[in-house]
Amino acid sequence: MSKEKIDKNRLPKHIAIIMDGNGRWAKEKGKFRIFGHQNGVKAVREVSEGCAELGVECLTLYAFSTENWNRPKIEVNALMTLLVKTIKGETDTLMKNGIKLDAIGDRSTLPVDCLRELDEAMEATKDNTRMTLILALSYSAKWDIVNATRIIAQKAASGEISIDEVNEDLINKTLTTHKYPHPELMIRTSGELRISNFLLWEIAYSELYFTTVLWPDYRKEHLYEAILDFQSRERRFGKTSEQLA
Ligand code: FPP
Repeated sequence: MSKEKIDKNRLPKHIAIIMDGNGRWAKEKGKFRIFGHQNGVKAVREVSEGCAELGVECLTLYAFSTENWNRPKIEVNALMTLLVKTIKGETDTLMKNGIKLDAIGDRSTLPVDCLRELDEAMEATKDNTRMTLILALSYSAKWDIVNATRIIAQKAASGEISIDEVNEDLINKTLTTHKYPHPELMIRTSGELRISNFLLWEIAYSELYFTTVLWPDYRKEHLYEAILDFQSRERRFGKTSEQLA
Protein backbone atom coordinates (compact mmCIF):
# COMPACT_ATOMS: atom_id res chain seq x y z
CA MET A 1 0.00 0.00 0.00
CA SER A 2 1.34 3.45 -0.92
CA LYS A 3 0.67 4.94 2.54
CA GLU A 4 3.61 3.01 4.04
CA LYS A 5 5.96 4.37 1.37
CA ILE A 6 5.27 7.99 2.38
CA ASP A 7 8.14 9.66 4.26
CA LYS A 8 6.41 11.31 7.25
CA ASN A 9 9.37 13.67 7.67
CA ARG A 10 8.95 15.13 4.18
CA LEU A 11 5.23 15.72 4.06
CA PRO A 12 3.87 18.83 2.37
CA LYS A 13 2.73 21.10 5.25
CA HIS A 14 -0.07 22.47 3.10
CA ILE A 15 -1.98 20.77 0.27
CA ALA A 16 -4.46 22.66 -1.94
CA ILE A 17 -7.00 20.83 -4.10
CA ILE A 18 -9.10 21.85 -7.09
CA MET A 19 -11.98 19.39 -6.70
CA ASP A 20 -13.07 19.00 -10.31
CA GLY A 21 -15.26 16.60 -12.30
CA ASN A 22 -18.43 16.39 -10.21
CA GLY A 23 -20.64 17.38 -13.15
CA ARG A 24 -19.03 14.89 -15.55
CA TRP A 25 -19.23 12.11 -12.94
CA ALA A 26 -22.98 12.71 -12.61
CA LYS A 27 -23.49 12.97 -16.38
CA GLU A 28 -21.74 9.62 -16.89
CA LYS A 29 -24.38 8.13 -14.61
CA GLY A 30 -27.27 9.91 -16.35
CA LYS A 31 -27.90 12.08 -13.27
CA PHE A 32 -28.17 15.83 -12.58
CA ARG A 33 -24.95 17.75 -11.84
CA ILE A 34 -25.89 18.26 -8.18
CA PHE A 35 -25.75 14.46 -7.71
CA GLY A 36 -22.05 14.76 -8.52
CA HIS A 37 -21.57 17.53 -5.95
CA GLN A 38 -23.44 15.49 -3.33
CA ASN A 39 -21.13 12.55 -3.97
CA GLY A 40 -18.14 14.87 -3.83
CA VAL A 41 -18.75 15.27 -0.10
CA LYS A 42 -17.50 11.69 0.49
CA ALA A 43 -14.22 12.60 -1.21
CA VAL A 44 -13.96 15.74 0.95
CA ARG A 45 -14.27 13.51 4.04
CA GLU A 46 -11.69 11.04 2.69
CA VAL A 47 -8.99 13.61 1.91
CA SER A 48 -9.58 15.57 5.12
CA GLU A 49 -9.25 12.40 7.18
CA GLY A 50 -6.33 11.15 5.07
CA CYS A 51 -4.40 14.41 5.48
CA ALA A 52 -5.09 14.58 9.24
CA GLU A 53 -3.98 10.95 9.76
CA LEU A 54 -0.70 11.55 7.91
CA GLY A 55 0.10 14.81 9.70
CA VAL A 56 -0.47 17.35 6.92
CA GLU A 57 -1.01 20.68 8.71
CA CYS A 58 -3.29 22.52 6.25
CA LEU A 59 -5.66 21.46 3.50
CA THR A 60 -7.33 24.07 1.27
CA LEU A 61 -10.28 22.99 -0.89
CA TYR A 62 -11.62 25.05 -3.78
CA ALA A 63 -15.31 24.65 -2.94
CA PHE A 64 -16.83 27.63 -4.77
CA SER A 65 -15.05 30.11 -7.02
CA THR A 66 -15.96 33.72 -7.78
CA GLU A 67 -16.69 32.51 -11.33
CA ASN A 68 -19.04 29.75 -10.06
CA TRP A 69 -21.63 32.47 -9.36
CA ASN A 70 -22.14 32.54 -13.15
CA ARG A 71 -23.47 28.95 -13.21
CA PRO A 72 -27.24 28.42 -13.66
CA LYS A 73 -29.12 29.74 -10.60
CA ILE A 74 -30.51 26.30 -9.82
CA GLU A 75 -26.98 24.84 -9.52
CA VAL A 76 -25.68 27.80 -7.47
CA ASN A 77 -28.60 27.47 -5.03
CA ALA A 78 -28.16 23.69 -4.78
CA LEU A 79 -24.41 24.07 -4.18
CA MET A 80 -24.95 26.69 -1.45
CA THR A 81 -27.58 24.47 0.22
CA LEU A 82 -25.16 21.53 0.06
CA LEU A 83 -22.32 23.61 1.50
CA VAL A 84 -24.47 24.83 4.40
CA LYS A 85 -25.75 21.29 5.08
CA THR A 86 -22.26 19.77 4.86
CA ILE A 87 -20.62 22.38 7.11
CA LYS A 88 -23.38 21.90 9.71
CA GLY A 89 -23.42 18.10 9.39
CA GLU A 90 -19.65 17.64 9.55
CA THR A 91 -18.87 19.81 12.60
CA ASP A 92 -18.97 16.80 14.98
CA THR A 93 -16.60 14.84 12.72
CA LEU A 94 -14.25 17.83 12.57
CA MET A 95 -14.25 17.94 16.39
CA LYS A 96 -13.62 14.17 16.65
CA ASN A 97 -10.69 14.45 14.25
CA GLY A 98 -9.22 17.58 15.88
CA ILE A 99 -9.70 19.61 12.69
CA LYS A 100 -10.09 23.38 12.75
CA LEU A 101 -12.25 24.91 10.02
CA ASP A 102 -11.37 28.19 8.32
CA ALA A 103 -12.36 29.95 5.09
CA ILE A 104 -10.83 32.23 2.48
CA GLY A 105 -12.67 34.35 -0.07
CA ASP A 106 -15.20 37.15 -0.34
CA ARG A 107 -17.46 36.74 2.70
CA SER A 108 -19.59 39.71 1.62
CA THR A 109 -21.05 37.71 -1.30
CA LEU A 110 -22.03 34.59 0.69
CA PRO A 111 -25.70 34.04 1.65
CA VAL A 112 -26.44 34.74 5.35
CA ASP A 113 -27.29 31.13 6.21
CA CYS A 114 -24.00 29.97 4.69
CA LEU A 115 -22.09 32.60 6.69
CA ARG A 116 -23.92 31.66 9.89
CA GLU A 117 -23.12 27.93 9.58
CA LEU A 118 -19.55 28.72 8.57
CA ASP A 119 -19.02 31.06 11.54
CA GLU A 120 -20.60 28.59 13.97
CA ALA A 121 -18.39 25.73 12.73
CA MET A 122 -15.29 27.95 12.77
CA GLU A 123 -16.05 29.06 16.34
CA ALA A 124 -16.75 25.48 17.51
CA THR A 125 -13.51 24.12 16.00
CA LYS A 126 -11.21 27.09 16.67
CA ASP A 127 -9.11 25.37 19.36
CA ASN A 128 -8.46 22.18 17.33
CA THR A 129 -4.80 21.82 16.46
CA ARG A 130 -4.31 18.58 14.51
CA MET A 131 -5.05 20.09 11.10
CA THR A 132 -6.73 23.14 9.54
CA LEU A 133 -9.27 22.63 6.77
CA ILE A 134 -9.59 25.83 4.75
CA LEU A 135 -12.59 26.20 2.44
CA ALA A 136 -12.15 28.56 -0.49
CA LEU A 137 -15.67 30.01 -0.75
CA SER A 138 -16.57 32.70 -3.26
CA TYR A 139 -12.82 32.82 -3.76
CA SER A 140 -10.62 33.62 -6.69
CA ALA A 141 -6.94 34.53 -6.55
CA LYS A 142 -7.44 37.65 -8.67
CA TRP A 143 -10.24 38.82 -6.34
CA ASP A 144 -7.93 38.32 -3.33
CA ILE A 145 -5.08 40.22 -5.02
CA VAL A 146 -7.35 43.12 -6.02
CA ASN A 147 -8.84 43.20 -2.51
CA ALA A 148 -5.38 43.25 -0.92
CA THR A 149 -4.23 45.97 -3.34
CA ARG A 150 -7.18 48.16 -2.34
CA ILE A 151 -6.42 47.71 1.37
CA ILE A 152 -2.75 48.57 0.82
CA ALA A 153 -3.59 51.55 -1.43
CA GLN A 154 -5.95 52.89 1.23
CA LYS A 155 -3.22 52.61 3.88
CA ALA A 156 -0.76 54.38 1.60
CA ALA A 157 -3.27 57.12 0.76
CA SER A 158 -4.00 57.77 4.45
CA GLY A 159 -0.29 57.90 5.27
CA GLU A 160 -0.43 54.78 7.50
CA ILE A 161 2.32 53.23 5.37
CA SER A 162 4.83 54.59 2.87
CA ILE A 163 5.22 53.25 -0.68
CA ASP A 164 8.60 51.78 0.36
CA GLU A 165 6.81 49.48 2.78
CA VAL A 166 4.89 47.80 -0.05
CA ASN A 167 6.76 44.54 -0.51
CA GLU A 168 6.16 40.78 -0.84
CA ASP A 169 5.76 40.41 2.90
CA LEU A 170 3.05 43.09 3.13
CA ILE A 171 1.16 41.54 0.20
CA ASN A 172 1.37 38.10 1.88
CA LYS A 173 0.00 39.58 5.10
CA THR A 174 -2.91 41.33 3.35
CA LEU A 175 -4.23 38.37 1.33
CA THR A 176 -7.06 36.29 2.89
CA THR A 177 -4.62 33.35 2.84
CA HIS A 178 -2.21 35.14 5.24
CA LYS A 179 -2.59 32.80 8.23
CA TYR A 180 -1.15 29.73 6.52
CA PRO A 181 2.07 28.66 4.78
CA HIS A 182 1.86 28.62 1.00
CA PRO A 183 0.80 25.23 -0.40
CA GLU A 184 3.69 22.98 -1.33
CA LEU A 185 1.46 20.68 -3.35
CA MET A 186 -1.53 21.55 -5.50
CA ILE A 187 -3.73 18.75 -6.85
CA ARG A 188 -6.37 19.03 -9.57
CA THR A 189 -8.69 16.16 -10.38
CA SER A 190 -10.63 15.28 -13.56
CA GLY A 191 -7.84 15.63 -16.12
CA GLU A 192 -8.11 19.40 -16.63
CA LEU A 193 -4.65 21.02 -16.80
CA ARG A 194 -5.49 24.50 -15.50
CA ILE A 195 -5.21 26.53 -12.28
CA SER A 196 -8.55 28.34 -12.78
CA ASN A 197 -7.78 31.41 -10.66
CA PHE A 198 -6.88 29.42 -7.51
CA LEU A 199 -4.11 30.70 -5.19
CA LEU A 200 -2.09 32.24 -8.05
CA TRP A 201 0.24 34.18 -5.74
CA GLU A 202 0.64 31.35 -3.23
CA ILE A 203 1.57 28.60 -5.73
CA ALA A 204 4.64 30.40 -7.10
CA TYR A 205 6.79 27.44 -5.99
CA SER A 206 4.16 24.72 -5.45
CA GLU A 207 4.44 21.33 -7.05
CA LEU A 208 1.46 20.73 -9.35
CA TYR A 209 -0.14 17.30 -9.62
CA PHE A 210 -2.90 16.41 -12.06
CA THR A 211 -4.97 13.23 -12.09
CA THR A 212 -7.78 12.07 -14.36
CA VAL A 213 -9.79 10.72 -11.40
CA LEU A 214 -13.11 12.57 -11.12
CA TRP A 215 -13.60 14.22 -7.70
CA PRO A 216 -16.46 11.99 -6.40
CA ASP A 217 -14.17 8.95 -6.99
CA TYR A 218 -11.18 10.49 -5.19
CA ARG A 219 -10.06 8.39 -2.21
CA LYS A 220 -7.17 8.27 0.29
CA GLU A 221 -5.14 6.01 -2.05
CA HIS A 222 -5.20 8.76 -4.70
CA LEU A 223 -4.01 11.28 -2.10
CA TYR A 224 -1.14 8.98 -1.11
CA GLU A 225 -0.11 8.63 -4.78
CA ALA A 226 -0.01 12.43 -5.14
CA ILE A 227 2.11 12.80 -1.98
CA LEU A 228 4.52 10.07 -3.12
CA ASP A 229 4.88 11.84 -6.46
CA PHE A 230 5.57 15.11 -4.59
CA GLN A 231 8.25 13.38 -2.52
CA SER A 232 9.96 12.11 -5.68
CA ARG A 233 10.50 15.65 -6.98
CA GLU A 234 13.52 17.85 -6.53
CA ARG A 235 12.39 21.29 -5.30
CA ARG A 236 15.08 23.75 -6.36
CA PHE A 237 13.44 27.14 -5.73
CA GLY A 238 15.54 28.65 -8.53
CA LYS A 239 18.82 27.06 -7.38
CA THR A 240 20.79 24.30 -9.12
CA SER A 241 20.78 20.61 -8.11
CA GLU A 242 24.42 20.95 -7.04
CA GLN A 243 23.61 23.82 -4.69
CA LEU A 244 20.92 21.71 -3.03
CA ALA A 245 23.34 18.79 -2.52
C1 FPP B 1 -16.22 21.21 -9.53
O1 FPP B 1 -16.84 20.24 -10.33
C2 FPP B 1 -16.75 21.23 -8.16
C3 FPP B 1 -17.35 22.28 -7.55
C4 FPP B 1 -17.56 23.57 -8.22
C5 FPP B 1 -17.92 22.20 -6.18
C6 FPP B 1 -17.26 21.31 -5.19
C7 FPP B 1 -18.16 21.14 -4.03
C8 FPP B 1 -18.32 20.03 -3.29
C9 FPP B 1 -17.55 18.78 -3.51
C10 FPP B 1 -19.37 20.06 -2.23
C11 FPP B 1 -18.97 19.94 -0.81
C12 FPP B 1 -17.75 20.62 -0.44
C13 FPP B 1 -17.38 21.06 0.80
C14 FPP B 1 -15.98 21.43 0.96
C15 FPP B 1 -18.27 21.21 1.98
P1 FPP B 1 -17.59 20.68 -11.66
O2 FPP B 1 -19.01 20.96 -11.32
O3 FPP B 1 -16.88 21.84 -12.28
O4 FPP B 1 -17.46 19.40 -12.55
P2 FPP B 1 -17.38 19.35 -14.17
O5 FPP B 1 -16.11 20.06 -14.56
O6 FPP B 1 -17.33 17.90 -14.46
O7 FPP B 1 -18.59 20.04 -14.69
